[in-house]
Amino acid sequence: MPTVDEVGAILRSLRGVWDEESVDELDHALQAAARAIEDGADDELVLAAALHDLAHSPLFGDVGAGRHDRVAAEWLTPRFGDRVGWLAGAHVAAKRYLVATDPHYATTMSDVSIDSLHHQGGAGVDPVFVEHLWWPDALRLRRYDDAAKVPRAGAASIDDVLAVAQRVVRQAHSA
Ligand SMILES: [Fe+2]
Repeated sequence: MPTVDEVGAILRSLRGVWDEESVDELDHALQAAARAIEDGADDELVLAAALHDLAHSPLFGDVGAGRHDRVAAEWLTPRFGDRVGWLAGAHVAAKRYLVATDPHYATTMSDVSIDSLHHQGGAGVDPVFVEHLWWPDALRLRRYDDAAKVPRAGAASIDDVLAVAQRVVRQAHSA
């Protein structure tokens, strides 16, 4: 399945890419997927969690911190449907929202995440996102994202994520 092969290539390309300081971007993706699975997330949310930072892949060239959410949404939506794309594309809006509304949240953020916030518009509530039906799932994804920065923590495998991707594609085609 070509789309699933593309996901495999993207994930493998994230090995050795460092955005966060504690884990590389492949471990970050696979930990985020694992945190979603442990939380009982559905396949689309697991896939969005695994691929929310795909724009850090060298396959996408040099994408700035202020645009990587939109690149994820634009890549995922035509391949896996509106919800996967929207959820991945909302992960920066979810961060901005949590900083603005949850006084405890900022104390849990990594240094890199605090630093990139300035390039992402700072704390704020974007009505385009927060009034959306899928917003609660975007906040769940953000929690998986923030929890996926722990060296040697439990993680999904690339094959686990590809199996999820395959199910999402099949479901999209049978719908
Ligand atoms: Fe992330």
